[in-house]
Amino acid sequence: MRINQTTLHKMAQDGEKITMLTCYDASFAAVLDAAGVDTLLIGDSLGMVLQGHDSTLPVTLTDVIYHTACVARGSKRAWIIADMPFGTFQTGPADAFRNAAQLMAAGAQMVKVEGGETMVETIRFLTARGIPVCGHLGLTPQSVNMLGGYRIQGKTDFQAKQLIAEAKMLEEAGAGMLVLELIPAALSRQVTAALRIPTIGIGAGVDCSGQVLVLHDMLDVYPGKKARFVKNFLTGAGSVQGAVEAYVREVKAKTFPAAEHSY
Ligand code: KIV
Repeated sequence: MRINQTTLHKMAQDGEKITMLTCYDASFAAVLDAAGVDTLLIGDSLGMVLQGHDSTLPVTLTDVIYHTACVARGSKRAWIIADMPFGTFQTGPADAFRNAAQLMAAGAQMVKVEGGETMVETIRFLTARGIPVCGHLGLTPQSVNMLGGYRIQGKTDFQAKQLIAEAKMLEEAGAGMLVLELIPAALSRQVTAALRIPTIGIGAGVDCSGQVLVLHDMLDVYPGKKARFVKNFLTGAGSVQGAVEAYVREVKAKTFPAAEHSY
């Protein structure tokens, strides 16, 4: 049976860490399912790790629909989340609904949108109409040109308070999950304690409700620069499935991320 949002919320309440990896095709979806990954994210990171772009900005809705359909065909167990690409949800709730509906039709069970207060109305609109939404705060890669690079967010008191306030706004608007990217571990601990919905960290320390990594990073096949929060799980694992099982084991045991992967 497929994991659903209720299962994930219960896991978070019970203190069981949620595992998430990005996934873009049917074969990897089957491997990740067999290794026990709870949620698969068709991330717009595909623009970098599959298409070779230097940002996620060129990714289109058609790209994510295609990869979502591939993943959905290969997976039977995990909860499937599709990223809404840049330009497909920022113009308002009605546009966001039209585009999110296509991702759901392709096999997603939830869509992810980057952004804080400006996303409140859209999240309320989508969730009221049957589309579960995952928020994304901290480093939001689609805003890389506003943020001045891929750098840690929420370092000042002001930014930290703003991030906590926006996390609460997204939850109140109906978001069912929240990705926290590249923020201090102490801040993600505070955000997680302030919310009822699960938080999923990437470069955000061990105290989130769960963790996500980009598949090509944890298998060490992406040729680009490696962030401090990335761990190569393939070394010594013997196989891709072994690497993914090691990731699941370490996230569930709270041994990944360690201090050396956190800020
Ligand atoms: O696109 C992606 O892969 C993501 C994760 C890094 C959370 O948004």
